[in-house]
Amino acid sequence: MAIAMHWSCLSLFLPNAPSYSSSPSGGASLPGTANSFVSFSGLRATSASSSSHGFFAKKLWSLEKTRILPVIECLVKSLEPTTHTTKVQRNANLAKLQGGYLFPEIARRRNAHIQKYPDAKIISLGIGDTTEPIPGLITLAMEARAHGLSTLEGYSGYGAEQGEKAMRVALAETFYGGMDIKDNEIFVSDGAKCDIARLQLVFGPDVSIAVQDPSYPAYVDSSVMMGQTGAFRKDVQQYSKIQYMRCSHENDFFPDLSSVPRTDIIFFCSPNNPTGSAATREQLKELVAFATINGSIIVYDSAYAIYMSDNNPRSIYEIPGAREVAIETGSFSKYAGFTGVRLGWTVVPEELLFSDGFPVRNDFNRVMCTCFNGASNIAQAGGLACLSPEGLKAMNKMVSFYKENTAILVDTFTSLGFKTFGGRNAPYVWVQFPGRDSWDVFGEILEKSHIVTTPGSGFGPGGEGFIRASAFGHRENILEATSRLRKLYL
Ligand SMILES: Cc1ncc(COP(=O)(O)O)c(C=O)c1O
Ligand SMILES: *[C@@H]1O[C@H](CO)[C@@H](O)[C@H](O)[C@H]1NC(C)=O
Repeated sequence: MAIAMHWSCLSLFLPNAPSYSSSPSGGASLPGTANSFVSFSGLRATSASSSSHGFFAKKLWSLEKTRILPVIECLVKSLEPTTHTTKVQRNANLAKLQGGYLFPEIARRRNAHIQKYPDAKIISLGIGDTTEPIPGLITLAMEARAHGLSTLEGYSGYGAEQGEKAMRVALAETFYGGMDIKDNEIFVSDGAKCDIARLQLVFGPDVSIAVQDPSYPAYVDSSVMMGQTGAFRKDVQQYSKIQYMRCSHENDFFPDLSSVPRTDIIFFCSPNNPTGSAATREQLKELVAFATINGSIIVYDSAYAIYMSDNNPRSIYEIPGAREVAIETGSFSKYAGFTGVRLGWTVVPEELLFSDGFPVRNDFNRVMCTCFNGASNIAQAGGLACLSPEGLKAMNKMVSFYKENTAILVDTFTSLGFKTFGGRNAPYVWVQFPGRDSWDVFGEILEKSHIVTTPGSGFGPGGEGFIRASAFGHRENILEATSRLRKLYL
């Protein structure tokens, strides 16, 4: 239902008032709809004009009363909800989606908690958002580029849709040295999540997909939006037509591929969000072989590769044969605190072909040119600074800081008797609460400790019985969280 407010109210009072059908931009907005501003500004004009009459104000008021009252009446009426609907049918694929996207849903519950306990100091181990300031040498580079935009020599407008050449070269050298990835196979973007959605646009509605279960929700939700799935099945908590590859501590967080039916696309995230596990070289060889035999495309999400402690591959292209079967997406979000700056990249090798021999890279390029207009030049200046020798040092220092947080969380949960997974190769600790509903555990920790976590089931049915604790946080908050957890569970 919509709240309809109308210029028509205003026109009762001001005979010359325009009757726009959409609300004009600008002006102070009031709670409610943008339209309500319009009418209240009309009221403001009313009082201003009546006071300006000074001496005759009183007399005029009685005169104008007869005109103001209908306006107020009209305003009150129009504040009432109406049921005007357009004739546009809702996208049936969007209607299939369950609840909200996970993190907005968590934010909703967090806000409800704040309403209930306005004085509580909430600590978030929830959404994986970075907390530490971006190293100065990186922001200085962005500042210089931003300032340059104010000069004739330094100004630039649209850049290449694929990203600046220097940025692509630096990415190729820094993260794909010795892997034979060429700069023209790398597309610079506003982030990995956005690239995942644009890849879905490349694939279209007719492909079948497989995801790790549990997994980062963007793969499943973007697949539903694109129309690749059937309805959500409440009994199994899965969308039909998606293959959920169970990854649990029982199978070393690597799917039993012999029981996975062939799909066109395989989304695979390593180090994994949410389980924090990372696939070994042997496991990735198996995955690449599986994709090769099945003629599938792997979308390999390496957003946490820099967090790797063990000697596992940091890129799928370390595996021979991956160029023919894999796309890889990466991000500066968790490398350098760029969650708000927005910078990522996607690699599409030339050898990756559709069944008719057409290069996937060319279609991705077409989508990027149509749906994207190149990453921000300021963000790319920051990215280039990240990849300078000093920048790499500064990034690794930040990553080490978060890894220390991770170790503190792992120690805390294990000393309290919980079984934990992950943490070594990703900034996430996956904590088991056997037999319990993960939203209940989430609620318990929030209610009693004012700590926000993420319920495992939000990442797929395979996450049931777990919560994810994120290691992004100021040290004092991580320490405070651990002492609250000790109080709750010791
Ligand atoms: C696995 C994974 N991929 C992608 C992203 C999104 O990255 P970006 O900020 O670059 O869009 C995240 C963010 O949490 C993530 O966990
Ligand atoms: C997919 O690959 C596996 C081997 O890894 C094989 O057993 C299976 O038959 C393949 N399926 C198809 C449809 O090619």
